[in-house]
Amino acid sequence: MEKDSIQAVLLTESQIAERVEQLGKQISQDYQGNDLVLVGILKGAICFFSDLIRQVEIPVNIDFMAVSSYGSASQTSGVVKILKDLDMPIEGRHVLIVEDIVDTGLTLNYLKTNLLSRNPASLKVVALLDKPDRRQIDIQADYLGFSIPDHFVVGYGIDYAEQYRSLPYVAILDPAAYQSQAKE
Ligand code: IMP
Ligand code: MG
Repeated sequence: MEKDSIQAVLLTESQIAERVEQLGKQISQDYQGNDLVLVGILKGAICFFSDLIRQVEIPVNIDFMAVSSYGSASQTSGVVKILKDLDMPIEGRHVLIVEDIVDTGLTLNYLKTNLLSRNPASLKVVALLDKPDRRQIDIQADYLGFSIPDHFVVGYGIDYAEQYRSLPYVAILDPAAYQSQAKE
């Protein structure tokens, strides 16, 4: 059972919903009158993305990128590969990357560099979660849901080895769940 590997619920459904509503309002104010493209980073951002766009009160376009970082399931290597690129051009448009977690910052750094080379009018980032303790590169989200301590978390779209994404809350995974798999 997936739930047996959950150590604690870190963010409840209602805590997340309240924060996402605030972020949506802020983004709506800041981008009023602008041509805004929200870029969801698959797969981890799916829940955050679909909740957030319904709290943004201005017209937006949506698009997605899928990236994978080479490395084990719980450790990123910093080498990022694009699995799916944007469908639409972003030159001259205001782009907001919607990401699940900023951890070491390597993935976001790669994404920002890549998208900036396409000459958007502006490029900012909204992240649901930030783990500042693990940062390897000086990079911040412009809009942030929650800053959290250094735990491996799952749920609300976020996985461990493709599991736990459908949990409606963000939870701390019991370290035994990945330590036992790492030894296999
Ligand atoms: P970074 O490149 O180290 O910042 O890693 C960012 C990506 O690693 C996130 O978008 C997640 O997909 C994944 N990640 C980082 N921390 C966690 C976690 O606690 N649980 C699940 N995935 C994570
Ligand atoms: Mg991700």
